[in-house]
Amino acid sequence: MLAILQKLEEKRDQAKLGGGQARIDAQHRKGRLTARERIDVLVDPGSFEELDTYVEHNCIDFGMQDQVIPGDGVVTGSGTINGRLVFVFSQDFTVFGGSLSERHAQKICKIMDMAMKVGAPVIGLNDSGGARIQEGVASLAGYAEVFQRNVMASGVIPQISVIMGPCAGGAVYSPAMTDFIFMVKDSSYMFVTGPDVVKTVTNEVVTQEELGGAVTHTTKSGVADVAFENDIEALLSVREFVDFLPLSNRQDVPERPTGDAWDRNEASLDTLIPDSANKPYDMKELIAKVVDEGDFFEVQPTHAPNIVTCFARIEGRTIGIVANQPMALAGVLDINSSKKAARFVRFCDAFDIPIITFVDVPGFLPGTAQEHNGIIKHGAKLLFAYAEATVPKITVITRKAYGGAYDVMSSKHLRGDLNYAWPTAEIAVMGAKGAVEIIFRKDIGDKDKIAARTAEYEERFANPFVAASKGFIDEVIMPQTTRRRIAQGLRKLRNKQLENPWKKHDNIPL
Ligand code: HXC
Repeated sequence: MLAILQKLEEKRDQAKLGGGQARIDAQHRKGRLTARERIDVLVDPGSFEELDTYVEHNCIDFGMQDQVIPGDGVVTGSGTINGRLVFVFSQDFTVFGGSLSERHAQKICKIMDMAMKVGAPVIGLNDSGGARIQEGVASLAGYAEVFQRNVMASGVIPQISVIMGPCAGGAVYSPAMTDFIFMVKDSSYMFVTGPDVVKTVTNEVVTQEELGGAVTHTTKSGVADVAFENDIEALLSVREFVDFLPLSNRQDVPERPTGDAWDRNEASLDTLIPDSANKPYDMKELIAKVVDEGDFFEVQPTHAPNIVTCFARIEGRTIGIVANQPMALAGVLDINSSKKAARFVRFCDAFDIPIITFVDVPGFLPGTAQEHNGIIKHGAKLLFAYAEATVPKITVITRKAYGGAYDVMSSKHLRGDLNYAWPTAEIAVMGAKGAVEIIFRKDIGDKDKIAARTAEYEERFANPFVAASKGFIDEVIMPQTTRRRIAQGLRKLRNKQLENPWKKHDNIPL
């Protein structure tokens, strides 16, 4: 018996070595952890239970029958994060570059299926050269099996991808279909085809970093959500992030004890809005002052910074926040900010996370660049997302709410449950100057007349009371009471019931 047990230990030790010590050392020299070391950082100590440790590939081409490594390049199983169940797969770059074989895919699918059955998130630690080239169509089939599950799991369980090495080909399409993508700076890359293929096809010379590094994807493309300095920071941040999320669409948002009083007044908010309408202020200051303990987790902080999307808590319960940021492009809605916020709103709605919207928006960004690239369709995404969302929706207009952007930003007309305005709110079709120049065009040469008309327009619309008189604003509130109002509102709305009409699915303007 003892000999048999010892054999098991030996087999386990062999599996843990993956592609061998030399490749593990190479991974460390690049500043990267191994697949198992990453899991150790991600989940609670001692909580990880590995499955399929001894699965082997079934390829007999190109001498592969002589290169069989237990586990076949991916470590799969489940563990807990602060006591809550998560399923994890972690690709092992030391085994055929973490490439995906038929069996490697089967292992991932197995834990995805389990996660779906029990209702728990899947976290993928991706470090893969894509389809296992030696296996040909079998590995492509494996990818498609994973993709199909990504789609079925979308909106049912949270799916998080952490990109922790070079990920190419199929290795980027599965993450692309998950809810959030985190990357590690200077060591992770995502591209459909690498720099060599790019050079051959388009003659462009580009580095891996420029083509698909963490900075590229978290600023320019918006493919990834957050970039971290190293593996450890990324994994610890995933732990923090998972704490905000419900385990599935069938479970309530997590609740965390807080000492922050629900009715805390924040007097400094009464002076947050500058005297001049053209002066910016930091919307993140407002968010920090309103939410529990000033703690929030921002998604896509460096892409489309003119809109802020983040998770936070009120009375210990998770909320999603969407807020125009006057510090970037005056908080205007453009293509990128519309797409960013629309996706965030849809995630919150899918997982029953109430949405708080802080509005200070001068409108949609004009210009040929925006129009020719489809601002109509992209802006409509955000409009669509808010309009279809049935979760509790609380809106606070702090300053400008102009034009179509007023409608879009969770207005009363899109089934906003509680729509508040600060006394500094200005709700109008457009700013006074633009409005007067259009409706009094014939007086444009007469400076006094234009000034008088502008003052008249401001007097009429540069306040929240016209909208409030029509019931479009439920209450004009003192800024310092914002936290209390939101907390009260969320309590009221906890058992909100609202269903959209039956349909197979909607047809959001993609
Ligand atoms: C099999 C692979 C592999 C792959 C890497 N390796 N990619 N083995 N299939 N796809 C192996 C290498 O042979 C090497 O083995 C080890 O992994 C490490 O690779 P290196 O090239 O030495 O590492 P590095 O220089 O860091 O470069 C990493 C890389 C590069 C950028 C990922 O390996 C690369 O470009 N690989 C191919 C990427 C690719 O084209 N994949 C197929 C995409 S098509 P040894 O034994 O030397 O350690 C695809 C289709 C799916 O995915 C489409 C679905 C929509």
